[in-house]
Amino acid sequence: MSSFAAIFALLGLAAASPFEKQAALSACLSASSVPTSAPGTQDWKLDASPYNLRLNYTPVAISVPTTAEHVQNAVACAAKLGIRANAKCGGHSYGSFGLGGEDGHLTIELDRMNEVVLDTATGNARVQGGARLGHVASELWTQGKRAFSHGTCPGVGVGGHTLHGGYGVSSHTKGLALDWLIGATVVLANSTIVNCSETENPDLFWAVRGAGSSFGVVTEFRFKTFAPPEKLTIFVAALRWGTEERALAGMKAVQEFALDMPQELNMRLFMTPRFINLEGLYYGDKAGMQAALAPLIAKTNATFQLQQEGGWLDQVKHFGGGLPLDQGHPYDYHETFNSASLYTNALNDTQLGDFVNYWFKYAKTNKRDWYVHIDIHGGKNSAVAKGDAAAASYAHRDYLFMYLFYDRVDKGVFPTSGFGHIQNFVSNITATLPSTEWGRYINYPDPSIDQQTAQKNYWGPNLAKLQAIKKEIDPSDLFHYPQGVLPAA
Ligand SMILES: Cc1cc2nc3c(=O)[nH]c(=O)nc-3n(C[C@H](O)[C@H](O)[C@H](O)COP(=O)(O)OP(=O)(O)OC[C@H]3O[C@@H](n4cnc5c(N)ncnc54)[C@H](O)[C@@H]3O)c2cc1C
Ligand SMILES: *[C@@H]1O[C@H](CO)[C@@H](O)[C@H](O)[C@H]1NC(C)=O
Ligand SMILES: *[C@@H]1O[C@H](CO)[C@@H](O)[C@H](O)[C@H]1NC(C)=O
Ligand SMILES: *[C@@H]1O[C@H](CO)[C@@H](O)[C@H](O)[C@H]1NC(C)=O
Ligand SMILES: *[C@@H]1O[C@H](CO)[C@@H](O)[C@H](O)[C@H]1NC(C)=O
Ligand SMILES: *[C@@H]1O[C@H](CO)[C@@H](O)[C@H](O)[C@H]1NC(C)=O
Repeated sequence: MSSFAAIFALLGLAAASPFEKQAALSACLSASSVPTSAPGTQDWKLDASPYNLRLNYTPVAISVPTTAEHVQNAVACAAKLGIRANAKCGGHSYGSFGLGGEDGHLTIELDRMNEVVLDTATGNARVQGGARLGHVASELWTQGKRAFSHGTCPGVGVGGHTLHGGYGVSSHTKGLALDWLIGATVVLANSTIVNCSETENPDLFWAVRGAGSSFGVVTEFRFKTFAPPEKLTIFVAALRWGTEERALAGMKAVQEFALDMPQELNMRLFMTPRFINLEGLYYGDKAGMQAALAPLIAKTNATFQLQQEGGWLDQVKHFGGGLPLDQGHPYDYHETFNSASLYTNALNDTQLGDFVNYWFKYAKTNKRDWYVHIDIHGGKNSAVAKGDAAAASYAHRDYLFMYLFYDRVDKGVFPTSGFGHIQNFVSNITATLPSTEWGRYINYPDPSIDQQTAQKNYWGPNLAKLQAIKKEIDPSDLFHYPQGVLPAA
């Protein structure tokens, strides 16, 4: 008997119909004064609608807490009734994991809890568990010209982002979002609320920095911050690799450069059916950027299309793709897409050959609006790679490249015949790589992967310890979703 069935049996609920379960949950939420979005309302529509419209799931109820106590009460109701529960922050999970990644969960929609308070004396900030990145960045800047390192889309939630990594155009210089986390307040499966940090509940703090969604609901994050430099330079340079030979030589030059490129340089390859560019952010002025990139430009024949100096918020806006920064509720931007991730070290000639061959022979024939990002994640001077691997459950600091595969349609449904594009892209790169020499990033999930495989890919050598902690604090897997950490057997 699963632990859920056991709970049902214990409560005499084995025969409860979905409708009865829903009624019981609504009654419990109402009795404990937890605000909800009622089915049929505009708020329900917004709260239930994921960023990735391909993966739409229907919650049994949506709670909309405005206090940590509401979160505790919502978790208590779900636990009592044997209903699975998930925090939802920005709703940007590619697998719609904030909705549970399947029908019938309790959604704990946090986006009404988005306060950001910077203590200008210490430079530390309190950020509520439902804030979006653009809001956080603009508040930190307005309140004291401070920042931390994080990803680019202003609508992404600080919750999912920080709890599983948080990679952005500052990460080579300044690390992952989770490297800036100094403490968190977490509602556990038994509805108690605890703080964690390096000194308080350190195992929980280790677990939430890489696999947080499986361990509780974070109601508040505490970040340290830095003062950004006055001048930063964004750049785009086109790589015109018309043939497989040129692409192969170019890729070799990029990866050789990436291994020890300066820490101030943040860069990725941005590949689409029509072009491949280098793009990124340099911590310094335009002349510094040009000097840092010169050896690579010489080897790849890249031509600059954009070289623009600016301040911190200028680059946040640029990489935010033109969306207004200060995103909150209501939020209503969506796409319809399939995705996957990969981490590898430098590829050898066989692997580079397979990669370039797939790209030219197959990928270029896919006329959907696909793209691939290959971020220079690690390398000798990367702040990510220099971070203490034992400090957090994020398992992939050492990898040189972090790949994001994204394949989307402008309108309508994503065709089932389309999934092979990304799956084969990944498997052509990994064909001759031992399984210990590549990994995946849960913030760029391939939702089609089964849970056993997914856990190994995401958390590799840290999985056993994560499962042991999970067994201790969420033995019945209340915070379940199809690719989360399972309790140890
Ligand atoms: C347009 C776009 C751009 C992106 N750009 C980047 C990027 O530049 N760099 C990068 O690293 N990633 C990027 N991502 C991926 C993003 O980091 C992940 O999708 C992230 O998990 C989204 O977090 P969320 O809170 O918005 O999502 P949600 O769907 O709300 O949550 C994602 C997961 O986190 C859990 N969760 C969320 N909040 C909490 C909380 N407070 N407590 C406990 N669990 C919580 C949810 O239960 C779920 O499992 C991007 C995604 C999109 C759609
Ligand atoms: C957690 O820490 C914060 C900040 O130090 C404090 O205000 C709060 O009371 C603590 N909460 C718990 C549950 O210990
Ligand atoms: C760069 O240009 C030179 C001269 O045209 C050419 O020989 C070389 O193959 C090019 N390299 C790449 C990587 O495109
Ligand atoms: C690349 O590595 C794979 C796996 O170790 C190996 O099979 C292959 O022969 C290597 N190729 C080259 C050119 O070294
Ligand atoms: C590489 O891609 C091709 C074309 O999609 C596919 O047929 C093949 O199975 C892939 N190879 C591997 C090793 O995955
Ligand atoms: C709740 O769970 C935590 C973690 O397992 C445990 O330390 C705590 O004692 C539990 N609280 C209650 C009231 O059971």
